[in-house]
Amino acid sequence: MAATSREPPRDDDVYDEAVRGTCDDASLCKRYAVSIGYWKDPYIEYFVRQPKERKAPEISRGYYARVHGVSQLLTAFLKKTECNCQIINLGAGLDTLFWKLKDENLLPKKYFEVDFPTIATRKIHNIKSKPSLSKPIMESHSGESLLIDAHSLDSSRYAIIAADLRELPKLEESLKKCSMDPHLPTLLIAECVLIYMTPEHSSCLLRWASSTFSAAMFVNYEQVNMADRFGQIMVENLQSRHCNLVGVEDCRTLETQRARFLANGWETANAMDMMKVYSCLPPADVKRIEALEFLDEKELLEQLMQHYCLCWATKDTCSLGLADIGL
Ligand SMILES: C[S@@+](CC[C@H](N)C(=O)[O-])C[C@H]1O[C@@H](n2cnc3c(N)ncnc32)[C@H](O)[C@@H]1O
Repeated sequence: MAATSREPPRDDDVYDEAVRGTCDDASLCKRYAVSIGYWKDPYIEYFVRQPKERKAPEISRGYYARVHGVSQLLTAFLKKTECNCQIINLGAGLDTLFWKLKDENLLPKKYFEVDFPTIATRKIHNIKSKPSLSKPIMESHSGESLLIDAHSLDSSRYAIIAADLRELPKLEESLKKCSMDPHLPTLLIAECVLIYMTPEHSSCLLRWASSTFSAAMFVNYEQVNMADRFGQIMVENLQSRHCNLVGVEDCRTLETQRARFLANGWETANAMDMMKVYSCLPPADVKRIEALEFLDEKELLEQLMQHYCLCWATKDTCSLGLADIGL
């Protein structure tokens, strides 16, 4: 609950506010990388202004590997299911994936985004005021009239849900109201989200997902190897901005990342650090992005990449072959 003007903010409120602020950081870094030419995203400019300061090349290369890795897993899932599926983007922030999928003719039956009410409200406000964002939603919509108010949006192919991922009964109710179908193959995506939740809360979320959907894949991108010195510095940097990484325990190793899925009802789980993901990029892509900006300190790139990972888990009672999906 938000503090009223007479009450001082509680620690929890300050923490949640700091967590909400992380979505601006992510979008600013993506916006900067797009402006340099790392990848194309014609929609991000409608959500964030070009940052005034430049971002270090290792940050942009890291984002490139992240966007590429997530997109590869996502595309493989869409192919396996022939788009006869749904996607739930957890803690979606200002992500532009819906518009990208629409342009590529790869929209699932329905694409859901979940985030805190303040972020959902901001996103909806942007969509309402920018025709380049609202038009694709209208174009993909069919059937009854589109529901859009300050805090939620529900069209036939896209929904934005204001909810706290730690409150599962409310989350499920809101998703169901927007026609979430537990029988459809479902891809859940969480990019830099679970680490902001306690291990108990994220375990409950993973268990809820594995028990709700009969065929599902979960793609999780976030920190790893956090127990070493570099990891500790990352934790301290965020702490200084009131952002305690309360879920850091699950981010100790690739093994702890995998283990939490297997302990919470998922049948398979894989994890790869981002240096490995980077080394699997097509050589032509690497050549192109490495020519964009000069990077003096290769070691720093390696250290950074070794502290993030992609983890993907599957549950496949319908034998769709989801376990075969990989990078
Ligand atoms: C680092 S941002 C990442 C945003 C987006 N996934 C991306 O990659 O651009 C983390 C997001 O998770 C959201 N988030 C964190 N904890 C949440 C919770 N308990 N409920 C809903 N959203 C949450 C934050 O509000 C924020 O938008």
